[in-house]
Amino acid sequence: MAQTVDLLITHASQLLTMEDDLGLIEDGALAIQNGKVVETGSSADLEKRYTGQETIDATGKTITPGLIDCHTHLLFAGSREDEFLSRLKGADYLSILQQGGGILNTVEQLRQATPDDLIQHGLKWLNEFLAHGVTCVEIKSGYGLDYANEKKMLEAISALSGYTDQHLVSTFLGAHAFPKEMKEQPEKQMDELVNHMLPAFRHLAEHCDLFLEKNAFSLDQAEVILERAQSFGYGLKMHTNQLSQLGGIALAKKYQLLSVDHLDTISEQEIETLAETDVVAVLLPGASFFLKESAWAPARQLIDKQIPVALATDFNPGSSPCPNLHFIMNLAVHQLGMLPHEVWQAVTITAAKALGKEDIAGSLATGKRADFVLWSMPNHLYPFYHFGKNFVEKVWINGRFAHRH
Ligand code: NIG
Ligand code: FE
Repeated sequence: MAQTVDLLITHASQLLTMEDDLGLIEDGALAIQNGKVVETGSSADLEKRYTGQETIDATGKTITPGLIDCHTHLLFAGSREDEFLSRLKGADYLSILQQGGGILNTVEQLRQATPDDLIQHGLKWLNEFLAHGVTCVEIKSGYGLDYANEKKMLEAISALSGYTDQHLVSTFLGAHAFPKEMKEQPEKQMDELVNHMLPAFRHLAEHCDLFLEKNAFSLDQAEVILERAQSFGYGLKMHTNQLSQLGGIALAKKYQLLSVDHLDTISEQEIETLAETDVVAVLLPGASFFLKESAWAPARQLIDKQIPVALATDFNPGSSPCPNLHFIMNLAVHQLGMLPHEVWQAVTITAAKALGKEDIAGSLATGKRADFVLWSMPNHLYPFYHFGKNFVEKVWINGRFAHRH
């Protein structure tokens, strides 16, 4: 007697379960019930044992888990194409910040925005991500930089969850830059961050991130923030080794971070240190590309040392205004030397690990969330081969067809 399930998809030319490398099944089938994966396997086998309330024939198509973008600054206001033009003419990213532009330019615009403005902005871009098969998006605060505006951002992220089918993961990035009004009083801002914002936002943000960099936060300040954030139970993440080597990797080891993000300037010795940990390396080649960095993250060395590598857009108005994870996947192949199977891992199961969600998302293992994408392509090499075309045909989240809003 066949078991009835909500949805049975059969005859996918390739089904990538992402269990054990790609977990590639040819002529694959997927059974879904109550929003969860029941089983994956060959069509011949699953057709014998399951009947779907709804059935889909995926002949000639590929199925993968929903993509996970584990590092974005999706919630911002305004845009910075004028600074981009200055950079094209030779201005440098950190000097623009030092002069009160860059992140602080966006902060000024965000402080003017209403909660509704932020929600409209967020939805517009989340729809764009959904069109590219992204079912889970991490979103950071960090353009408010004072209590009221950081709260406004985090509340907007939480409100957005009610408007989209996508899973949103919220990260507090109050330590993104020192706001103008606190430039001469860094101790006061540190006090605000660790004694006021961190305790108050615990129910609004799951993770805490910071920007360890020249003209941003120092190693000592980073340690104070991580220690306090850890004591409140936040998952810990850090922007580090993007432009300078300030000692972030040793700190990541000490506080057992979920992830270290960027890593364009990580040294060989720091790679050795990272290899002794379980910390995920989140690479953001969109930022390296857009800032015309001389160094790109050494993905091959990281992978050779068995360090888990994830990829993300870093979508933000300054260093990576690219909302298309597929473009990032292509950069990873051509600029970071990653192979397609490593890239698929980096935007599914390892991205889930960078968010502490590997037990519920990132692969099509039995019992996990039924978040998956039907691609109008015969195999998983196509997004790299016919680069520039979006092959996403349909997206399901929690076993339901996901609609754009
Ligand atoms: O990840 N590096 C710091 N934060 C962002 C850029 C933010 C901005 O320029 O607005 C990043 O690259
Ligand atoms: Fe970032």
